[in-house]
This record gives sequence, C-alpha cells and structure tokens, in this order.
Amino acid sequence: MQLFSTEPAEPAARRLRVRKMDFPFKEAEVPRWWFHGNPTITHLANGLNLLFPPGERFFIRSVKHYVDQLDDPALVARVKAFFGQEGRHGHEHERANRILREQGYDIDTFLGIYERVAFGVLEPLFPPVLRLSTTVACEHFTATLAKRALTNRFLDGAHPLMQQLLRWHAAEEIEHKSVAFDVLQEVDPRYWVRVAGLAIATSQLLGWWMVGAAMLMAQEDLGREEKAQHARAAEAARVEHEAEERLTLFREAILDYLRRDFHPDDHDDYALAREYLESVGAPV
Ligand SMILES: [Fe+2]
Ligand SMILES: [Fe+2]
Repeated sequence: MQLFSTEPAEPAARRLRVRKMDFPFKEAEVPRWWFHGNPTITHLANGLNLLFPPGERFFIRSVKHYVDQLDDPALVARVKAFFGQEGRHGHEHERANRILREQGYDIDTFLGIYERVAFGVLEPLFPPVLRLSTTVACEHFTATLAKRALTNRFLDGAHPLMQQLLRWHAAEEIEHKSVAFDVLQEVDPRYWVRVAGLAIATSQLLGWWMVGAAMLMAQEDLGREEKAQHARAAEAARVEHEAEERLTLFREAILDYLRRDFHPDDHDDYALAREYLESVGAPV
C-alpha cells in the first residue's frame, strides 16, 4: 500500500489562467516612498520592478525558441499560459513604472543601458540552451521571492495598489514556477546546463537589481546621514515584519537549486497562490 503520493503536485495546480488585471494606476495616488514610507525599501522594490518587463520578455523568447520541440500537449498548453501570464506581468509593471516617471525619477537612462547590455549584447552571446537555463533559474528566484511575499507581512507596509500588483504577480509566479524547468528537462536535462544558468541568473539579477535601486536612491535629495537613518529604519521594518534577509534568501534558494534532484514542485505552495487569488476574487 502506498502511504504517500510521489506526484510532485496536484494536477489542478498546473492549470494556468491568464488574468487581465488592469490595475487603476492612473487614478491611484501612489506616494514617492510607497513602501513603509521608506526610500531604501521603496527603491529596492522599484529596482526589481524595473527589471521585470524586459526580463519577462526575455523569459518568453528563451522558452519560445523550444516550443516546436515539445511533444507533450499538456506542457505546450502550460507554456502558452506561461507566455500569457509573463506578458501580462510585464504589461502591468510597465504601467506601474510610468508612475516613477510622473514622480520625476529618471528611469529611462537605466532602462536603456539595461536593455542594451543585458539583451542587446549579452543575450546573443549565449546559446539558446543557456538562455533557457537562465530563465529557469530566474523563475526559481521569482518563485522563492513570491512565496515570501505571500507568507510574511512585509508587503503590508506597501501602498494598497502596489500590494495588489505584487501579490498578484507573486501568486502567478508560483502558479507557473515549474513550466520553464519542465521545458529544460525535456530539451536538455544536463545538470551543468542548469547550474550554468543559475550562475548567469544570479549575477545578472542581483547586479542589475542593485544598480537600479542605487540609481533611484541617488536621485533622492538626501545627505549621507539621512540615507544611513533610512537604511537603519528599513532593517528595523524587515525584522519587525519577519521578512528574511535578501542575501540569506538567495543563498538558501541557490543551495536548494543545486540539489541534483531539485524540482520546483518540491515546494508545494500552489495552495498559497490559489488562496490569495480567491481572496481577491480573481478567477482560479
Ligand atoms: Fe512574472
Ligand atoms: Fe515567471
């Protein structure tokens, strides 16, 4: 008698929906320091948000390259829904990023450099399989961050509309977290390919994220002591809301991913995503 299922996740969790959210960014008055009223926290979040639209278009390109090689119709259906979800994320984040322009931040210099270097110069240097494995590792990082976003209380300190945007994005990242991984397993399951993608994803994601956040922070008219005070307040807010330290989170995610038998569904957090989506009346 089998006492437990070895199935990685319930089948229902694998049905993906594309949801058009159309968040009312125009009507919302999102303050400049919309996250805990703190510029350090706000610009860390803004820095990541800036990366999403071009990054998610890259994820779509890298998986699309292999779509014709997939035999399993169920996987093809999940891949198409993955394209739809990532496309909607990029669309909504692009709309949210416009708020930064309206608030007077120069984001286009950074975005121009990021797009030219990461996708104009670096992307063509790597073969398709490493572009795919980079996407797979990025998806592991987004799913890891997503789980934390839905389980700790840190997002409670964000402007309500930004909370909705980030929680919806987090829930869908969990929903589709195994899609790119399953495509890579299908087309090239070699361990070194997965690990090479992890190295590229880690350096690119952390590097561009920190540059983006620093670029925004540098545009604040704050002295050195004020910046230090805000940084201390940010750390206090993190501890108070039981949010994990960013680098600890990444270290744990990397160690998890380095297991030879790692699969995203080892962490069955689909119910977490579904509960959130249901709680806001989104179709599940
Ligand atoms: Fe996404
Ligand atoms: Fe994703």
